[in-house]
Amino acid sequence: MKRIFLIGYMGAGKTTVGKDLSERMGLSFIDLDSYIESRYHKTVRQIFEEKGEEAFRKIERTVLQGVALFENVIVSTGGGAPAYYDNMEFMNRKGTTVYLQVSVEELANRLEVCKHTRPVLKNHSGKELKAFIAENLRKREPFYKKATVIFDAENMLSETDVQNISQALEKLV
Ligand code: S3P
Repeated sequence: MKRIFLIGYMGAGKTTVGKDLSERMGLSFIDLDSYIESRYHKTVRQIFEEKGEEAFRKIERTVLQGVALFENVIVSTGGGAPAYYDNMEFMNRKGTTVYLQVSVEELANRLEVCKHTRPVLKNHSGKELKAFIAENLRKREPFYKKATVIFDAENMLSETDVQNISQALEKLV
């Protein structure tokens, strides 16, 4: 039985890699944010706006515990999930955790263009966005680094890069 949790900062490629890896390994795929959105009939952004971050973190925790019952599955988690409650220890007990590690520079480049769906980043841009990511990642990395596998996901420009990453990951998980 395989249960794999992909973790890492926003923009690290958890969903992209998760989909590819799940097809390669013949496992189901769950994106935790999409799962929350379909269960609560609201976008993550709406949940943040209407109920606040603390409420979102509770929902995230509850849903994480639910999906951890599924077998033969790859779960891509939201970037904040490992840093709240005992979620990281929980995931390590329930399966194999994989940290997709990407530098602050690369994350800032990727997130500048797609930060609008991410409430945590909505008020930041340019140099200030990069500084925010650096500080936020510094706080989160101690959690991410508890992962079973730490994987360099810096180069993910093309479809071939994604395939190479999941091919390499398949051997490690
Ligand atoms: C968050 C990351 C998001 C989502 C929410 C909060 C975070 O997921 O869960 O906007 O705090 O890092 P992605 O990492 O999939 O963007």
